[in-house]
Amino acid sequence: MPELFTWEFASDPYPAYAWLREHAPVHRTTLPSGVEAWLVTRYADARQALADQRLSKNPEHHDEPSHAKGKTGIPGERKAELMTHLLNIDPPDHTRLRRLVSKAFTPRRVAEFAPRVQELTDDLIDRFAAKGEADLIHDFAFPLPIYAICDLLGVPREDQDDFRDWAGMMIRHGGGPRGGVARAVKKIRAYLVDLIHRKRNDLGDDLISGLIRASDHGEHLTENEAAAMCFVLLLAGFETTINLIGNGTYSLLRNPDQFARLTDSLARGDEGFLDTALEELLRYDGPVELATWRFATQPLQIGGQDIAKGDPVLVVLAAANRDPARFDDPDALDLGRGTNPHLGYGHGIHYCLGAPLARLEARTALATLLTRLPDLHLAADPADLRWRGGLIMRGLRNLPVTFTSEHSKHS
Ligand code: HEM
Repeated sequence: MPELFTWEFASDPYPAYAWLREHAPVHRTTLPSGVEAWLVTRYADARQALADQRLSKNPEHHDEPSHAKGKTGIPGERKAELMTHLLNIDPPDHTRLRRLVSKAFTPRRVAEFAPRVQELTDDLIDRFAAKGEADLIHDFAFPLPIYAICDLLGVPREDQDDFRDWAGMMIRHGGGPRGGVARAVKKIRAYLVDLIHRKRNDLGDDLISGLIRASDHGEHLTENEAAAMCFVLLLAGFETTINLIGNGTYSLLRNPDQFARLTDSLARGDEGFLDTALEELLRYDGPVELATWRFATQPLQIGGQDIAKGDPVLVVLAAANRDPARFDDPDALDLGRGTNPHLGYGHGIHYCLGAPLARLEARTALATLLTRLPDLHLAADPADLRWRGGLIMRGLRNLPVTFTSEHSKHS
Protein backbone atom coordinates (compact mmCIF):
# COMPACT_ATOMS: atom_id res chain seq x y z
CA MET A 1 0.00 0.00 0.00
CA PRO A 2 1.73 3.24 -1.11
CA GLU A 3 1.87 6.13 1.32
CA LEU A 4 -0.49 8.96 0.44
CA PHE A 5 -0.11 12.71 1.08
CA THR A 6 3.66 12.62 1.57
CA TRP A 7 6.17 14.87 -0.10
CA GLU A 8 6.93 12.30 -2.85
CA PHE A 9 3.22 11.76 -3.40
CA ALA A 10 2.67 15.50 -3.94
CA SER A 11 5.30 15.66 -6.69
CA ASP A 12 4.00 12.56 -8.49
CA PRO A 13 0.78 11.03 -7.14
CA TYR A 14 0.11 8.96 -10.27
CA PRO A 15 1.88 5.69 -9.28
CA ALA A 16 -0.05 5.66 -5.96
CA TYR A 17 -3.32 6.30 -7.79
CA ALA A 18 -2.56 3.46 -10.23
CA TRP A 19 -2.10 1.15 -7.24
CA LEU A 20 -5.36 2.28 -5.64
CA ARG A 21 -7.27 1.95 -8.92
CA GLU A 22 -6.12 -1.64 -9.19
CA HIS A 23 -6.19 -2.85 -5.56
CA ALA A 24 -8.49 -0.55 -3.56
CA PRO A 25 -10.61 1.45 -6.03
CA VAL A 26 -12.90 2.84 -3.33
CA HIS A 27 -10.53 3.32 -0.45
CA ARG A 28 -11.13 4.69 3.04
CA THR A 29 -8.23 6.82 4.19
CA THR A 30 -7.33 9.26 6.94
CA LEU A 31 -6.52 12.65 5.49
CA PRO A 32 -3.73 14.84 6.89
CA SER A 33 -6.45 16.84 8.72
CA GLY A 34 -7.51 13.68 10.57
CA VAL A 35 -10.81 13.37 8.71
CA GLU A 36 -11.67 9.93 7.32
CA ALA A 37 -12.91 9.92 3.73
CA TRP A 38 -13.45 7.55 0.79
CA LEU A 39 -11.23 8.02 -2.27
CA VAL A 40 -12.85 6.98 -5.56
CA THR A 41 -10.22 6.32 -8.24
CA ARG A 42 -11.76 4.36 -11.17
CA TYR A 43 -13.23 6.31 -14.09
CA ALA A 44 -16.63 4.57 -14.14
CA ASP A 45 -17.11 4.91 -10.36
CA ALA A 46 -15.90 8.53 -10.43
CA ARG A 47 -18.35 9.51 -13.15
CA GLN A 48 -21.20 7.80 -11.36
CA ALA A 49 -20.33 9.41 -8.00
CA LEU A 50 -20.05 12.91 -9.50
CA ALA A 51 -23.62 12.67 -10.77
CA ASP A 52 -25.11 10.80 -7.80
CA GLN A 53 -27.70 13.00 -6.10
CA ARG A 54 -27.49 10.86 -2.96
CA LEU A 55 -24.09 12.47 -2.43
CA SER A 56 -24.69 15.94 -1.05
CA LYS A 57 -22.37 18.93 -1.38
CA ASN A 58 -23.68 20.41 1.86
CA PRO A 59 -21.19 19.86 4.72
CA GLU A 60 -24.10 19.62 7.17
CA HIS A 61 -24.46 16.04 5.97
CA HIS A 62 -20.99 15.16 7.25
CA ASP A 63 -21.27 12.77 10.14
CA GLU A 64 -18.21 14.02 11.99
CA PRO A 65 -17.36 13.00 15.55
CA SER A 66 -18.36 15.74 18.00
CA HIS A 67 -14.74 16.34 19.13
CA ALA A 68 -13.85 17.24 15.53
CA LYS A 69 -16.74 19.66 14.97
CA GLY A 70 -15.49 22.78 13.26
CA LYS A 71 -11.90 21.54 13.04
CA THR A 72 -11.91 19.33 9.98
CA GLY A 73 -10.76 21.93 7.48
CA ILE A 74 -13.76 21.14 5.26
CA PRO A 75 -14.76 24.41 3.60
CA GLY A 76 -18.24 25.50 4.57
CA GLU A 77 -18.54 23.49 7.77
CA ARG A 78 -18.21 26.65 9.86
CA LYS A 79 -21.03 28.27 7.97
CA ALA A 80 -18.90 31.30 7.20
CA GLU A 81 -20.79 33.91 5.25
CA LEU A 82 -19.14 33.40 1.87
CA MET A 83 -19.53 29.64 2.01
CA THR A 84 -23.13 29.22 0.88
CA HIS A 85 -22.01 29.02 -2.72
CA LEU A 86 -22.58 26.64 -5.63
CA LEU A 87 -20.00 24.09 -4.54
CA ASN A 88 -21.51 23.72 -1.04
CA ILE A 89 -25.21 23.48 -1.84
CA ASP A 90 -27.72 21.07 -3.39
CA PRO A 91 -30.91 21.49 -5.41
CA PRO A 92 -33.24 23.32 -5.23
CA ASP A 93 -31.00 26.21 -4.06
CA HIS A 94 -28.23 25.07 -6.38
CA THR A 95 -30.60 24.98 -9.36
CA ARG A 96 -31.87 28.50 -8.62
CA LEU A 97 -28.42 30.05 -8.14
CA ARG A 98 -26.83 28.22 -11.06
CA ARG A 99 -29.65 29.31 -13.39
CA LEU A 100 -29.22 32.86 -12.22
CA VAL A 101 -25.46 33.03 -12.72
CA SER A 102 -25.74 31.25 -16.06
CA LYS A 103 -27.84 34.17 -17.30
CA ALA A 104 -25.00 36.55 -16.50
CA PHE A 105 -22.01 34.31 -17.28
CA THR A 106 -22.90 33.44 -20.86
CA PRO A 107 -20.62 31.99 -23.56
CA ARG A 108 -21.22 35.24 -25.44
CA ARG A 109 -19.90 37.34 -22.56
CA VAL A 110 -16.83 35.10 -22.44
CA ALA A 111 -16.30 35.37 -26.21
CA GLU A 112 -16.53 39.15 -26.02
CA PHE A 113 -13.82 39.03 -23.41
CA ALA A 114 -11.25 37.47 -25.80
CA PRO A 115 -9.50 40.73 -26.84
CA ARG A 116 -8.98 41.69 -23.18
CA VAL A 117 -7.47 38.28 -22.35
CA GLN A 118 -5.13 38.68 -25.34
CA GLU A 119 -4.12 42.16 -24.17
CA LEU A 120 -3.44 40.94 -20.62
CA THR A 121 -1.41 38.03 -21.97
CA ASP A 122 0.68 40.26 -24.25
CA ASP A 123 1.34 42.76 -21.45
CA LEU A 124 2.53 40.07 -19.07
CA ILE A 125 4.83 38.46 -21.64
CA ASP A 126 6.20 41.89 -22.62
CA ARG A 127 7.47 42.30 -19.07
CA PHE A 128 9.82 39.31 -19.23
CA ALA A 129 10.30 38.53 -22.95
CA ALA A 130 13.56 40.52 -23.16
CA LYS A 131 15.09 38.94 -20.06
CA GLY A 132 15.71 35.44 -21.39
CA GLU A 133 14.35 33.90 -18.17
CA ALA A 134 11.17 33.91 -16.11
CA ASP A 135 9.26 32.12 -13.42
CA LEU A 136 6.17 31.22 -15.42
CA ILE A 137 4.01 30.83 -12.30
CA HIS A 138 4.91 34.13 -10.66
CA ASP A 139 5.32 36.21 -13.82
CA PHE A 140 2.57 34.75 -15.97
CA ALA A 141 0.19 32.02 -14.79
CA PHE A 142 -0.60 33.74 -11.46
CA PRO A 143 -1.44 37.31 -12.58
CA LEU A 144 -3.38 36.43 -15.75
CA PRO A 145 -6.48 34.77 -14.24
CA ILE A 146 -6.78 37.20 -11.35
CA TYR A 147 -6.83 40.26 -13.61
CA ALA A 148 -9.17 38.43 -16.00
CA ILE A 149 -11.70 37.49 -13.32
CA CYS A 150 -11.52 40.99 -11.79
CA ASP A 151 -12.29 42.54 -15.18
CA LEU A 152 -15.12 40.13 -15.78
CA LEU A 153 -16.70 40.77 -12.38
CA GLY A 154 -16.31 44.52 -12.80
CA VAL A 155 -13.66 45.22 -10.15
CA PRO A 156 -12.23 48.64 -11.10
CA ARG A 157 -8.66 48.50 -12.46
CA GLU A 158 -7.28 50.60 -9.59
CA ASP A 159 -8.43 47.97 -7.05
CA GLN A 160 -7.18 44.93 -8.93
CA ASP A 161 -3.71 44.85 -7.37
CA ASP A 162 -5.32 44.63 -3.91
CA PHE A 163 -7.29 41.67 -5.18
CA ARG A 164 -4.13 40.15 -6.55
CA ASP A 165 -2.51 40.41 -3.09
CA TRP A 166 -5.50 38.89 -1.28
CA ALA A 167 -5.73 36.07 -3.80
CA GLY A 168 -1.99 35.46 -3.32
CA MET A 169 -2.53 35.22 0.45
CA MET A 170 -5.26 32.66 -0.13
CA ILE A 171 -3.21 30.29 -2.22
CA ARG A 172 0.04 30.60 -0.27
CA HIS A 173 -1.60 28.86 2.69
CA GLY A 174 0.24 25.61 1.83
CA GLY A 175 3.36 27.00 3.50
CA GLY A 176 2.18 30.02 5.44
CA PRO A 177 0.08 30.66 8.54
CA ARG A 178 -3.63 29.84 8.14
CA GLY A 179 -4.54 33.17 9.71
CA GLY A 180 -3.48 34.75 6.42
CA VAL A 181 -6.26 32.94 4.56
CA ALA A 182 -8.91 34.09 7.04
CA ARG A 183 -7.65 37.67 6.80
CA ALA A 184 -7.69 37.56 3.00
CA VAL A 185 -11.22 36.10 2.91
CA LYS A 186 -12.43 38.82 5.28
CA LYS A 187 -10.97 41.54 3.10
CA ILE A 188 -12.40 40.03 -0.06
CA ARG A 189 -15.84 39.74 1.52
CA ALA A 190 -15.86 43.34 2.77
CA TYR A 191 -14.74 44.54 -0.64
CA LEU A 192 -17.31 42.47 -2.57
CA VAL A 193 -20.24 43.50 -0.36
CA ASP A 194 -19.32 47.15 -0.84
CA LEU A 195 -18.83 46.73 -4.60
CA ILE A 196 -22.21 44.99 -4.99
CA HIS A 197 -23.83 47.89 -3.10
CA ARG A 198 -22.18 50.43 -5.39
CA LYS A 199 -23.14 48.50 -8.54
CA ARG A 200 -26.79 48.42 -7.52
CA ASN A 201 -26.90 52.16 -8.06
CA ASP A 202 -24.67 52.20 -11.09
CA LEU A 203 -25.24 49.11 -13.25
CA GLY A 204 -22.66 48.44 -15.97
CA ASP A 205 -22.16 45.56 -18.38
CA ASP A 206 -19.98 43.50 -16.03
CA LEU A 207 -20.91 40.19 -14.43
CA ILE A 208 -21.90 41.62 -11.04
CA SER A 209 -24.31 44.02 -12.75
CA GLY A 210 -25.60 41.08 -14.79
CA LEU A 211 -26.23 39.11 -11.59
CA ILE A 212 -28.10 42.04 -10.06
CA ARG A 213 -30.19 42.45 -13.20
CA ALA A 214 -30.98 38.73 -13.37
CA SER A 215 -32.03 38.70 -9.72
CA ASP A 216 -34.21 41.77 -10.21
CA HIS A 217 -36.08 39.89 -12.92
CA GLY A 218 -37.85 37.33 -10.83
CA GLU A 219 -35.37 35.06 -9.12
CA HIS A 220 -34.25 36.26 -5.78
CA LEU A 221 -30.59 36.63 -4.79
CA THR A 222 -29.79 37.73 -1.26
CA GLU A 223 -26.88 40.06 -0.66
CA ASN A 224 -24.95 37.27 0.98
CA GLU A 225 -25.65 34.94 -1.95
CA ALA A 226 -24.44 37.58 -4.39
CA ALA A 227 -21.18 38.02 -2.46
CA ALA A 228 -20.78 34.24 -2.14
CA MET A 229 -21.35 33.87 -5.90
CA CYS A 230 -18.60 36.37 -6.71
CA PHE A 231 -16.38 34.61 -4.20
CA VAL A 232 -16.88 31.17 -5.75
CA LEU A 233 -16.12 32.57 -9.20
CA LEU A 234 -12.90 33.94 -7.82
CA LEU A 235 -12.09 30.84 -5.82
CA ALA A 236 -12.96 28.32 -8.53
CA GLY A 237 -11.63 30.36 -11.42
CA PHE A 238 -8.32 31.52 -10.11
CA GLU A 239 -6.06 28.76 -8.80
CA THR A 240 -7.48 26.32 -11.36
CA THR A 241 -6.43 28.49 -14.28
CA ILE A 242 -2.99 29.13 -12.78
CA ASN A 243 -2.57 25.37 -12.58
CA LEU A 244 -3.82 24.72 -16.09
CA ILE A 245 -1.25 27.13 -17.53
CA GLY A 246 1.46 25.95 -15.10
CA ASN A 247 0.90 22.17 -15.23
CA GLY A 248 0.18 22.37 -18.96
CA THR A 249 3.43 24.15 -19.78
CA TYR A 250 5.34 21.85 -17.45
CA SER A 251 3.89 18.74 -19.12
CA LEU A 252 4.94 20.12 -22.50
CA LEU A 253 8.46 20.88 -21.26
CA ARG A 254 8.77 17.30 -19.96
CA ASN A 255 7.57 15.88 -23.31
CA PRO A 256 9.67 17.62 -25.99
CA ASP A 257 8.13 15.64 -28.87
CA GLN A 258 4.66 16.88 -27.89
CA PHE A 259 6.01 20.40 -27.32
CA ALA A 260 7.35 20.36 -30.89
CA ARG A 261 4.05 19.01 -32.20
CA LEU A 262 2.22 21.94 -30.65
CA THR A 263 4.67 24.66 -31.72
CA ASP A 264 4.63 23.25 -35.29
CA SER A 265 0.84 23.30 -35.38
CA LEU A 266 0.78 26.87 -34.05
CA ALA A 267 3.26 27.92 -36.72
CA ARG A 268 0.85 26.44 -39.29
CA GLY A 269 -2.07 28.33 -37.70
CA ASP A 270 -3.86 25.07 -36.85
CA GLU A 271 -6.19 26.33 -34.05
CA GLY A 272 -8.12 23.06 -33.90
CA PHE A 273 -5.05 21.15 -32.77
CA LEU A 274 -4.54 23.58 -29.89
CA ASP A 275 -8.06 22.88 -28.59
CA THR A 276 -7.48 19.11 -28.70
CA ALA A 277 -4.10 19.59 -27.04
CA LEU A 278 -5.60 21.61 -24.19
CA GLU A 279 -8.11 18.87 -23.38
CA GLU A 280 -5.26 16.36 -23.25
CA LEU A 281 -3.21 18.60 -20.94
CA LEU A 282 -6.26 18.73 -18.66
CA ARG A 283 -6.56 14.96 -18.68
CA TYR A 284 -2.85 14.24 -18.28
CA ASP A 285 -2.07 16.51 -15.31
CA GLY A 286 -5.08 18.70 -14.65
CA PRO A 287 -5.49 21.53 -12.14
CA VAL A 288 -8.08 19.81 -9.93
CA GLU A 289 -6.70 16.59 -8.44
CA LEU A 290 -9.74 15.76 -6.29
CA ALA A 291 -13.28 16.99 -6.88
CA THR A 292 -14.68 18.94 -3.95
CA TRP A 293 -16.26 17.28 -0.90
CA ARG A 294 -19.38 15.15 -1.12
CA PHE A 295 -21.26 13.49 1.75
CA ALA A 296 -23.51 10.40 1.67
CA THR A 297 -27.07 11.35 2.65
CA GLN A 298 -28.04 7.65 2.92
CA PRO A 299 -26.25 4.30 2.89
CA LEU A 300 -25.12 3.56 -0.68
CA GLN A 301 -22.61 1.62 -2.73
CA ILE A 302 -19.87 2.88 -5.03
CA GLY A 303 -18.06 0.25 -7.09
CA GLY A 304 -19.53 -2.45 -4.82
CA GLN A 305 -18.20 -0.78 -1.66
CA ASP A 306 -20.68 0.11 1.12
CA ILE A 307 -20.60 3.76 2.12
CA ALA A 308 -22.35 4.77 5.36
CA LYS A 309 -24.67 7.76 5.72
CA GLY A 310 -22.65 10.84 6.64
CA ASP A 311 -19.35 9.57 5.18
CA PRO A 312 -17.29 12.01 3.09
CA VAL A 313 -16.51 10.92 -0.48
CA LEU A 314 -13.68 12.42 -2.55
CA VAL A 315 -13.60 11.66 -6.26
CA VAL A 316 -10.00 11.55 -7.47
CA LEU A 317 -10.22 13.15 -10.92
CA ALA A 318 -6.48 12.74 -11.48
CA ALA A 319 -6.79 8.97 -11.00
CA ALA A 320 -9.96 8.59 -13.09
CA ASN A 321 -8.35 10.51 -15.95
CA ARG A 322 -5.56 7.93 -16.16
CA ASP A 323 -7.74 4.84 -15.89
CA PRO A 324 -6.57 2.28 -18.51
CA ALA A 325 -10.14 0.94 -18.61
CA ARG A 326 -11.17 4.24 -20.24
CA PHE A 327 -8.07 5.68 -21.94
CA ASP A 328 -5.55 3.92 -24.18
CA ASP A 329 -2.00 4.30 -22.93
CA PRO A 330 -3.21 6.68 -20.18
CA ASP A 331 0.22 7.64 -18.82
CA ALA A 332 1.32 8.99 -22.21
CA LEU A 333 0.77 12.62 -23.15
CA ASP A 334 -0.76 12.48 -26.63
CA LEU A 335 -1.83 15.95 -27.73
CA GLY A 336 -3.69 14.52 -30.72
CA ARG A 337 -5.75 12.09 -28.60
CA GLY A 338 -9.06 11.68 -30.43
CA THR A 339 -11.85 10.89 -27.98
CA ASN A 340 -11.06 12.40 -24.64
CA PRO A 341 -13.98 12.24 -22.20
CA HIS A 342 -11.81 13.36 -19.26
CA LEU A 343 -13.37 14.48 -15.98
CA GLY A 344 -11.08 17.48 -15.49
CA TYR A 345 -14.04 19.88 -15.40
CA GLY A 346 -16.17 17.49 -13.35
CA HIS A 347 -19.49 15.95 -14.38
CA GLY A 348 -23.15 16.31 -13.48
CA ILE A 349 -24.89 19.37 -12.05
CA HIS A 350 -21.68 20.84 -10.60
CA TYR A 351 -19.85 20.62 -13.95
CA CYS A 352 -17.49 23.58 -14.21
CA LEU A 353 -19.41 26.75 -14.87
CA GLY A 354 -16.26 28.55 -15.96
CA ALA A 355 -15.04 26.01 -18.54
CA PRO A 356 -15.48 28.39 -21.51
CA LEU A 357 -13.48 31.10 -19.71
CA ALA A 358 -10.82 28.61 -18.62
CA ARG A 359 -10.48 27.39 -22.20
CA LEU A 360 -10.22 30.94 -23.53
CA GLU A 361 -7.55 31.92 -21.01
CA ALA A 362 -5.49 28.75 -21.40
CA ARG A 363 -5.72 28.81 -25.19
CA THR A 364 -4.64 32.45 -25.38
CA ALA A 365 -1.89 32.00 -22.79
CA LEU A 366 -0.31 28.91 -24.36
CA ALA A 367 -0.69 30.01 -27.98
CA THR A 368 0.90 33.41 -27.29
CA LEU A 369 3.65 32.07 -25.04
CA LEU A 370 4.72 29.30 -27.43
CA THR A 371 4.48 31.51 -30.51
CA ARG A 372 6.56 34.30 -29.00
CA LEU A 373 9.00 32.09 -27.08
CA PRO A 374 9.07 28.77 -28.95
CA ASP A 375 12.39 27.66 -27.46
CA LEU A 376 11.34 27.55 -23.80
CA HIS A 377 13.47 25.30 -21.58
CA LEU A 378 12.94 24.16 -18.04
CA ALA A 379 15.60 25.85 -15.89
CA ALA A 380 15.41 23.50 -12.90
CA ASP A 381 15.73 19.85 -12.07
CA PRO A 382 12.14 18.53 -11.92
CA ALA A 383 12.99 17.00 -8.53
CA ASP A 384 13.62 20.48 -7.15
CA LEU A 385 10.28 21.94 -8.21
CA ARG A 386 7.83 22.55 -5.38
CA TRP A 387 4.14 21.68 -5.61
CA ARG A 388 1.61 23.70 -3.66
CA GLY A 389 0.10 21.87 -0.68
CA GLY A 390 -3.64 21.41 -0.33
CA LEU A 391 -5.94 18.50 -0.96
CA ILE A 392 -8.06 19.55 -3.91
CA MET A 393 -5.77 21.40 -6.31
CA ARG A 394 -2.60 20.28 -8.02
CA GLY A 395 -0.18 22.99 -9.09
CA LEU A 396 3.43 24.15 -9.07
CA ARG A 397 4.70 26.91 -6.81
CA ASN A 398 7.30 27.92 -9.35
CA LEU A 399 8.27 27.08 -12.93
CA PRO A 400 11.65 28.61 -13.87
CA VAL A 401 12.34 28.69 -17.62
CA THR A 402 14.92 30.12 -19.98
CA PHE A 403 14.49 31.11 -23.64
CA THR A 404 16.09 33.18 -26.36
CA SER A 405 15.03 36.68 -25.43
CA GLU A 406 12.95 38.66 -27.91
CA HIS A 407 15.48 41.44 -27.45
CA SER A 408 18.36 39.33 -28.81
CA LYS A 409 16.14 37.95 -31.60
CA HIS A 410 15.55 41.48 -32.85
CA SER A 411 19.10 42.82 -32.41
C1 HEM B 1 -8.69 25.19 -15.97
C2 HEM B 1 -9.50 25.66 -15.24
C3 HEM B 1 -10.62 25.00 -14.48
C4 HEM B 1 -10.79 23.69 -14.10
C5 HEM B 1 -9.91 22.50 -14.39
C6 HEM B 1 -12.03 23.65 -13.36
C7 HEM B 1 -12.56 22.50 -12.80
C8 HEM B 1 -13.75 22.43 -12.12
C9 HEM B 1 -14.31 21.23 -11.56
C10 HEM B 1 -13.64 19.86 -11.57
C11 HEM B 1 -15.50 21.55 -11.00
C12 HEM B 1 -16.47 20.58 -10.31
C13 HEM B 1 -16.10 20.35 -8.88
C14 HEM B 1 -16.94 19.28 -8.20
O1 HEM B 1 -17.91 18.76 -8.79
O2 HEM B 1 -16.60 18.97 -7.07
C15 HEM B 1 -15.70 22.97 -11.20
C16 HEM B 1 -16.80 23.67 -10.76
C17 HEM B 1 -16.89 25.04 -10.89
N1 HEM B 1 -16.05 25.88 -11.57
FE1 HEM B 1 -14.37 25.38 -12.54
N2 HEM B 1 -12.55 24.90 -13.30
C18 HEM B 1 -11.72 25.75 -13.99
C19 HEM B 1 -11.89 27.10 -14.19
C20 HEM B 1 -12.96 27.82 -13.76
C21 HEM B 1 -13.18 29.23 -14.03
C22 HEM B 1 -12.26 30.12 -14.85
C23 HEM B 1 -14.33 29.56 -13.37
C24 HEM B 1 -15.02 30.88 -13.26
C25 HEM B 1 -14.54 32.01 -13.39
C26 HEM B 1 -14.84 28.37 -12.71
C27 HEM B 1 -15.99 28.32 -11.97
C28 HEM B 1 -16.52 27.16 -11.44
C29 HEM B 1 -17.72 27.15 -10.62
C30 HEM B 1 -18.55 28.36 -10.23
C31 HEM B 1 -17.96 25.82 -10.27
C32 HEM B 1 -19.10 25.28 -9.41
C33 HEM B 1 -20.24 24.91 -10.30
C34 HEM B 1 -21.39 24.31 -9.53
O3 HEM B 1 -21.23 23.89 -8.38
O4 HEM B 1 -22.51 24.30 -10.08
N3 HEM B 1 -13.99 27.33 -12.99
N4 HEM B 1 -14.62 23.47 -11.89
